[in-house]
Amino acid sequence: MIILGIETSCDDTSAAVIEGEKNQPFAKVLANVSATSLALHAKTGGIIPEIAAREQIKFIIPVIKHALQQSAKEPKDIDAIAVTYGPGLIGSLLVGVETAKTLGFAWNKPLIPVNHLFGHVYANWLESSLRETISDEAISSRLPLNDGIQFPVIALIVSGGHTDLILMKSHEETVLLGGTRDDAAGEAIDKIGREIHFPYPSGPAFEKAALLGDPKAYKFPRPVMYDKHYDFSFSGLKAAGLREIKKQELHQPVINNLARGIQDAIIDVLVYKTLLAAEEFGATAILLSGGVSANQALRDAFVKKIDDKRLSIPLHAPEKQYCTDNGAMIAAAGLYMGKQVNWDTINANPELYFD
Ligand code: KG4
Ligand code: ZN
Repeated sequence: MIILGIETSCDDTSAAVIEGEKNQPFAKVLANVSATSLALHAKTGGIIPEIAAREQIKFIIPVIKHALQQSAKEPKDIDAIAVTYGPGLIGSLLVGVETAKTLGFAWNKPLIPVNHLFGHVYANWLESSLRETISDEAISSRLPLNDGIQFPVIALIVSGGHTDLILMKSHEETVLLGGTRDDAAGEAIDKIGREIHFPYPSGPAFEKAALLGDPKAYKFPRPVMYDKHYDFSFSGLKAAGLREIKKQELHQPVINNLARGIQDAIIDVLVYKTLLAAEEFGATAILLSGGVSANQALRDAFVKKIDDKRLSIPLHAPEKQYCTDNGAMIAAAGLYMGKQVNWDTINANPELYFD
């Protein structure tokens, strides 16, 4: 099957063409083209929804056209159009959904509505994904990563808006184990980063600074880490970080130490809870996903902890370019878990969570 994937839930406008079959372990990305309005939001340190949507209206058709050209496919080759219908910013979602509906009608193709959160998880089913994480030879030689992903899996979604832990028993049967009760991990990083004057979104600058920081300089709280549930909470950690920033002048070593302290606290909680769930539910794989999963320290911490605990659970994470929002992950979710519908039955749903 050839699937066109469209993603416009936040500031990105992305279209991809992938090829695969549901019974094959991974799908191949033929093209993935993105445009972002981030530069326009950089000055304000956050997304301005109205501006994001207006830019997406300009980008959407050129991005789709470019993706088709790059994949050397024509509309007649496309079997279905997968599109993010929520959660996200309503204006942004409408651009993708209405474009997909128009193309579905004009080309006479079925649509596949995709939950953006599952989209992130399915970046792990892209052929180029996986193996990149497992830089650690001891682990990669031990785990059969090329055989595909075996259920049940525990999937961690860590993005700017969400921190969720999901048990997937199959492509069709998924259970939400927990989510954040307040801020998402990426949100805490972005809000602290804004006070430090990192460019928005702060993740990449945060990671760089943390690499130079002293891990012993700060000991921030690990919120709800040992509580007996799979929810998360990062607002207290965010507040603690912001309080430290106000206390002192921000020289580079202080910034590095702060970033390191906050990043370590987030990583500890994410790794602990995810591995606990993997053990409790007998997971045969752990999947990382979402923008924050591009963080190498997080990936390395997972590898180390899995190794320390002698768990033989394969760890998967998307190639870094597919961690942040993109059309390819939406197309993959459409291929493996989506249901084809007629163009006139789909509507954007900004509040969508898990069914
Ligand atoms: O998944 P995503 O692109 O958008 C949402 O659906 O929210 O995630 C964006 C988030 C932002 O909070 C950004 O700061 C964070 O991912 N992020 C990172 C890194 N790259 C992006 N966080 C930590 N380290 C990174 N390298
Ligand atoms: Zn996202």
